[in-house]
Amino acid sequence: MILLHLSDLHVRPPGVALSRVVEASHLAERALRAAAAFRPLPDAILITGDLADCGLEAEYAELAAMLRRHLGGRRVLLLAGNHDRRENLRTALAEFEGVTADPADVRYVVEDLPLRLVVLDSVVPGAGYGALGAERLAWLDARLAEAPARPTLLALHHPPMLSGLAACDAINLRDYAALGALLRRHRQVERILCGHHHRCMTGRLGDAVITVAPAAAHQGAFELDDDRGRFVMEPPGYLVHLRGADGAIVSHNVFVESFPGPFPYLPDPDYPGA
Ligand SMILES: [Fe+2]
Ligand SMILES: [Fe+2]
Repeated sequence: MILLHLSDLHVRPPGVALSRVVEASHLAERALRAAAAFRPLPDAILITGDLADCGLEAEYAELAAMLRRHLGGRRVLLLAGNHDRRENLRTALAEFEGVTADPADVRYVVEDLPLRLVVLDSVVPGAGYGALGAERLAWLDARLAEAPARPTLLALHHPPMLSGLAACDAINLRDYAALGALLRRHRQVERILCGHHHRCMTGRLGDAVITVAPAAAHQGAFELDDDRGRFVMEPPGYLVHLRGADGAIVSHNVFVESFPGPFPYLPDPDYPGA
């Protein structure tokens, strides 16, 4: 199985730069074009929230056109982030799988991939941080109880962990301890796939490995001694999750843009492994 995992497009209306610097729509277009060109063809393309920057109708119209242009006919799985406005997202992107499956949240289950995928909404309207609360935890509990023997991926926008970056940890998934307690009863959840922090990170909650995707737009600055939560224009990327012949999942961090190479390895006569 090949799952492309993009995140944090932050699409703006045409011609409007985010924070005066980030041409987010231009970057989103390049990321979606890279996803379209990826070979072998992926089983699905997951985009883990912050699809729009302000959740405006004009932003979703721009994104919907981009998705149709580059990924028409492909299996695209969307979820909501704190920059999204759920009602505008649900209206503009209703054609995409699962987006309106639930009457309120953007949450659904994908049953027909080699790994079961549960998409969960962690957005608290008006807040940067995320939370699940009793209702969402009960929904997740019920969905996971349906297939306890199937290896499962859980996708949600807000990472359920502490990252060490103060600005990120102020807006993480608040009640991640409750999610951890739930996952102790559902050990088939192997991975938790997130976005939101705009950097590639790896963590753990219970038995599940947490993988945070880099952003298709701007990246979060790696400043362990600074709590301002600034951004840098490091190369945008995405993750490629593979399930190998042994059943284990491995994740690769890939850049959107191309760089010089690939070059052949020319063994040096001094190389000790020859
Ligand atoms: Fe974001
Ligand atoms: Fe976010």
